[in-house]
Amino acid sequence: MSRNPVFNGNKLKLGTFCTNGRGTTHSLAPEANQLNWQGALEVAREVDRAGYEAVVPFARWKGYVQGKPGHVSGEVLDPYTFAAAIAQATTQVGVFVTSHAPTIHPIVAAKQTATIDIISNGRLALNVVGGWNRPELEMFGAPLREHDQRYDYLAEWLDVLKQLWSSTEEFDHHGEFFDVIGGFSNPKPVQRPHPPIMNAGHSGRGRRFACEHANLCFIGIQSESPGSIRNEVDAYKRVAREEFGRDVQVWAHTYVVQRDTQKGADDFVEYYAVEHQDRESIDGLIGLSVPEVKDMPREAWEAVRTRYAAGYGGFPLVGTAERICEKLSMLSDAGLDGVLLTWIDFVDGARRFNRDVLPLLERAGLRKPVAGG
Ligand SMILES: Cc1cc2nc3c(=O)[nH]c(=O)nc-3n(C[C@H](O)[C@H](O)[C@H](O)COP(=O)(O)O)c2cc1C
Repeated sequence: MSRNPVFNGNKLKLGTFCTNGRGTTHSLAPEANQLNWQGALEVAREVDRAGYEAVVPFARWKGYVQGKPGHVSGEVLDPYTFAAAIAQATTQVGVFVTSHAPTIHPIVAAKQTATIDIISNGRLALNVVGGWNRPELEMFGAPLREHDQRYDYLAEWLDVLKQLWSSTEEFDHHGEFFDVIGGFSNPKPVQRPHPPIMNAGHSGRGRRFACEHANLCFIGIQSESPGSIRNEVDAYKRVAREEFGRDVQVWAHTYVVQRDTQKGADDFVEYYAVEHQDRESIDGLIGLSVPEVKDMPREAWEAVRTRYAAGYGGFPLVGTAERICEKLSMLSDAGLDGVLLTWIDFVDGARRFNRDVLPLLERAGLRKPVAGG
């Protein structure tokens, strides 16, 4: 398989998420990240030195607040060009692209991903998403497809992409969504058989898609109970193994608030995610999501409102360095292979985490120290 760091031997893999925009918080507190390329670059270099496996950007074409197109929720750098720049600035970390399949033809995606794989010398991974934010996809002049059909489209898109990545002959493809005549793409990616695929399908159809096609299933963990997290992770791994004969990794995203005391950390969450919550942004997010995300009625969204304000619904890693290490050990014991970390201020947050939590993770046997580090 490929040499991508996501396949290394670390028991719990680490990455950053959403540094190509304001991060995952919905907060008006002055400490909150704003779009900050220099900061994103600094964090990428910091985690590269610390031996992380992933830098994952998110993909957003339009923000959440209707009637306010300039709202910060839509201020997000393009993941492909972002990944190319991160690839050039780093030496070992896995570099992800998040791509809405309906917004880019697979021929263009094949060329761009191969380019980034070559720049990074085989460190690219592709997080492929079908889209759920109706107004952002309608800008492209096509309606958002019916939910399950989005995954049929993704499957055919990936099929064409993989042929372009691998085929040394021209090929024709005549499917439901694509007609490709004499398809071919050069250069090929460095990684064989192809760069790793990530997908965050959540519904029944979405999970099956991820288990059939992705190397890394990306999940949002709603519960804090170890038993139900284990069941959730097992469900992905079992479907992948039993129905598709595949092994998949399961990763989740988290938000980190690390302070010297538990109270200091809890108070800080209250400060930025409750008192200074960007309510307009969260209201917009909930309003857009309710009709699109299956099995998640409005009341369920309201119940996790603070968690979305604190870190886009990620699993909370809130407390002292020791407490954060305990929670990460629990997630690993529950079967998770990797976590993406986010912070209200990612430059300060990543530094603190690497200084205080990373050595504890190494001591707990969850990660190997970086050679020469
Ligand atoms: C951790 C995580 C990250 C995601 N990142 C993005 C993203 O960057 N852009 C996007 O349009 N959708 C993103 N999504 C949404 C998923 O692609 C998907 O639409 C959502 O999980 C609903 O899945 P379903 O269609 O199976 O119900 C993300 C979802 C999760 C859980």
